[in-house]
Amino acid sequence: MASDRSLVIVTRKLPDVVETRLRELFDARLNLDDKPFSREELIEAVKTANVLVPTVTDRIDRAVLSQAGPDLKLIAQFGTGVDNIDLDTARNRSILVTNTPGVLTEDTADMTMALIIAVPRRLAEGAALLRDGTDEWHGWSPTWMLGHRIYGKRLGIVGMGRVGQAVARRAKAFGLQIHYHNRRRVAPDVEKALEATYWDSLDQMLARMDIISINCPHTPATYHLLSARRLSLMKPTAYIVNTARGEVIDENALARMIENNELAGAGLDVFEHEPAVNPKLLRSNKVVVLPHMGSATVEGRVDMGEKVIINIKTFLDGHAPPDRVHPAMF
Ligand code: 8YV
Repeated sequence: MASDRSLVIVTRKLPDVVETRLRELFDARLNLDDKPFSREELIEAVKTANVLVPTVTDRIDRAVLSQAGPDLKLIAQFGTGVDNIDLDTARNRSILVTNTPGVLTEDTADMTMALIIAVPRRLAEGAALLRDGTDEWHGWSPTWMLGHRIYGKRLGIVGMGRVGQAVARRAKAFGLQIHYHNRRRVAPDVEKALEATYWDSLDQMLARMDIISINCPHTPATYHLLSARRLSLMKPTAYIVNTARGEVIDENALARMIENNELAGAGLDVFEHEPAVNPKLLRSNKVVVLPHMGSATVEGRVDMGEKVIINIKTFLDGHAPPDRVHPAMF
């Protein structure tokens, strides 16, 4: 395939095989050191590139986009969430935005399920206890390190899109009862297969669940969807798991409530002010925190890169790229 002279600027280090292909196909400017772009570097990139390939760590807001050069025609996000990009401004400036949906669904759902098990069963706490030797283990005891059963419990999924449904499939196999809240009710055959109960009212669902899993995107409408008020509707014995976006939960309120035993615990892969994590959450042995690893598999990252390449290539060839993002989708 002939190489295209379009300048494609990639903001972070991607898997070698993806970078090699980008170089073969385009005039690709890569970030081999993986040092995140400063705001100035980001502005410089949008001024000169034909295509920008950013990730969740790049804030492409109105101020950055207002400096975009006339040649910037496509932002091909490496990732599914696009909450780091001001979609309205991009559209007003006729810059197309694409993302990489689908290829990280199963990995993210696996990590969600891992947290749904890890938190009630005190997995990280038990492992740390032996590894760090902070407490002595004198051998098995009937009352040692007791957690809570997940089998038969009620799981409330907030956001029943691709990831939410993949979580539901796993959770059903573990014997959890599936409940969900979504902007739209899912198709009857999907609901039937998952034996899922739809809740039009998020408030009412929250009050009745044993575990809540956040699987919706972060948008202006879902910012602090789990506000202090809504968190206080949950049972004090309930857990919350978030592998979506930190901004969906009021992180300070969550940390305070766990500290005050108003919630039983949390499994968090994402945070409101990444990479900062509320110190209360870090300290609590009722919380499992992970550094945004939901889709972090070799296979997933290569598939994401492949999607980015397909989106750029089809666009530069004059076709509609498959993963176009419209503001109305969110
Ligand atoms: C990605 C994610 O790794 O795709 C997403 O939305 O949350 C992550 O799993 C990251 O966003 C890359 O941009």
